[in-house]
Amino acid sequence: MIPVIRPLLGAEEAAAAAEAITSGWVAQGPRVAEFEAAFAEATGSGHAVAVSSCTAGLHLAMIAAGVGAGDQVIVPSLSFIATANAARYVGAEAVFADVDPATLNLTTATVEPLLTERTRAVILVDQAGVPADLDAMRALCDPRGITVVEDAACAAGATYRDRPAGAGASLAAFSFHPRKLLTTGEGGMIITPDPDLAARLRRLREHGMNVSAAARHAERQSVIERYLEVGYNYRMTDVQAAIGLVQLRRLGDIVARRRQLAQRYQRLLGQIPGLRMIADPGYGTTNFQSFWVALHEKFPVTRNELLQRLASAGISARRGIMAAHLEPAYAHYRRAADLPVTERLSSCSIILPLFHQLTRDEQNQVISAMFNAAGLPFPADREPTTSAAGWPG
Ligand SMILES: Cc1ncc(COP(=O)(O)O)c(C=O)c1O
Repeated sequence: MIPVIRPLLGAEEAAAAAEAITSGWVAQGPRVAEFEAAFAEATGSGHAVAVSSCTAGLHLAMIAAGVGAGDQVIVPSLSFIATANAARYVGAEAVFADVDPATLNLTTATVEPLLTERTRAVILVDQAGVPADLDAMRALCDPRGITVVEDAACAAGATYRDRPAGAGASLAAFSFHPRKLLTTGEGGMIITPDPDLAARLRRLREHGMNVSAAARHAERQSVIERYLEVGYNYRMTDVQAAIGLVQLRRLGDIVARRRQLAQRYQRLLGQIPGLRMIADPGYGTTNFQSFWVALHEKFPVTRNELLQRLASAGISARRGIMAAHLEPAYAHYRRAADLPVTERLSSCSIILPLFHQLTRDEQNQVISAMFNAAGLPFPADREPTTSAAGWPG
């Protein structure tokens, strides 16, 4: 079976993890600090705070942005459910806005009609690694005192206006889940240009302590820690950070390979009439974290039938991005706006296999199965040319 994704983890990551284990320090420590410094440098963002997941990062970003009970947070429904849940964790109301059909991201046109006196934040998702138009959203929100938190879960290696995605946000959270390009097993990173926000995030991820366990350990005299506010255990381990350091060094190569494979999909699948696919927006580059394809209404088979046909051909595809408002967790939730683009895309799109090790033969199998389902012959191919943008590697 061709999987939808396969993480790129090898001997270097294994050696780095082993080194962390044998060092005797496996919890949050020097490697987490090193990973944070490397990530801050790679994004040019001033400060990076490692956490146990992007979900944890979004939760802390909500707290740091001052979002609380009674506030409203505008989010896309067309996203992994963790985006909306982050608002709920702090007692705020998640207000679902529709998305742009080309980028799958919120736009000022979908968000502006939903702004109220209670709107405290917008969570702007870089869906599937396609950067959202952050500057436009900030131009709408900043003058109103509304914080734009970038959910860059999928966006490590993507670029926005020639900078790494996330770099222009006051708070952005990344995911290192194995479905992402850069993985630490589980894990996440929050970036911010603001040193005070970074200090608060560091405290919140470690039980609200005024001094980290690693810093206390390094002291030659006894240090009695204080707990300044109610915090959480959202720490990353040094074993994860050791893996992350290796992955970050490889990110440029991983993105380049993704873009090469994605461009071949675009070129060949683009010959199927009416198929729409993930693509770079005009103002940035995607890392092609998930290669989504939206079916035309006249596509000869339904989305679910297509998934079944692909499975029968030994190809593990997935439904497209979920719509949170259609899940039981949000079944009785107030809906401020109709979400026609979200509902259509969540029901007519799929995600095709795309990962570093995907071979030409495997990719041909996927393309051939798609043409088969469309009732068309497999096309002749020409080699693409490609280049990667941004990020280290
Ligand atoms: C847009 C988005 N936000 C948040 C998350 C949650 O990330 P994590 O699994 O690291 O908590 C994901 C994970 O897929 C995601 O795609």
